[in-house]
Amino acid sequence: MNEIRRQRRNLLIATSAAGGVAVAATAVPFVASLTPSARARAAGAPVEADVSKLAPGEMMTVEWRGKPVWILRRTPEMIASLEGHEARLADPASEEPQQPDYASNRARAINPEFLVVIGICTHLGCSPTEKLAPGAPSGLGDDWPGGFLCPCHGSIFDLSGRVFLSQPAPTNLEIPPHKWLSASVVIVGEDDSTA
Ligand code: FES
Repeated sequence: MNEIRRQRRNLLIATSAAGGVAVAATAVPFVASLTPSARARAAGAPVEADVSKLAPGEMMTVEWRGKPVWILRRTPEMIASLEGHEARLADPASEEPQQPDYASNRARAINPEFLVVIGICTHLGCSPTEKLAPGAPSGLGDDWPGGFLCPCHGSIFDLSGRVFLSQPAPTNLEIPPHKWLSASVVIVGEDDSTA
């Protein structure tokens, strides 16, 4: 009787081991079968975005390293609005290391017309929503300058992704490394320090 049990147990162990080898054996061809671009994306390769069809005031999203990266084409009025409310911001001069050096300015951008920013709240990682238009229609008060609202716990950010004072989010939204390849093509995830 014991001998029969022992033989069954050995058979089960052998079957499990064979199953394990099969999984490992199929995993390698799967990875190898990815195209070069898919492998690069999985590894977090830089992503190119063409902004030529983006009208002033519009925003588009690209994915980099699994994160949404917003590209907002600001109007002249939006750029001008960045000055009026800085006393209400937690880090108006972008002193916290939330951006590359070339984005440590009021517009937090290489070209003030285009904000390139990671659309993830610095509190607990929700994705803020657009509240681009200024004033009362935003639901955020007459003095709202335009920006973003995180629906999770109410953090608000301006049109440069700068967080207002006394919000759950401790810092400004993060600016990813990026550089412009032409007037209308930006590469996210690469700049002259990472290239
Ligand atoms: S995750 Fe944005 S306010 Fe909490």
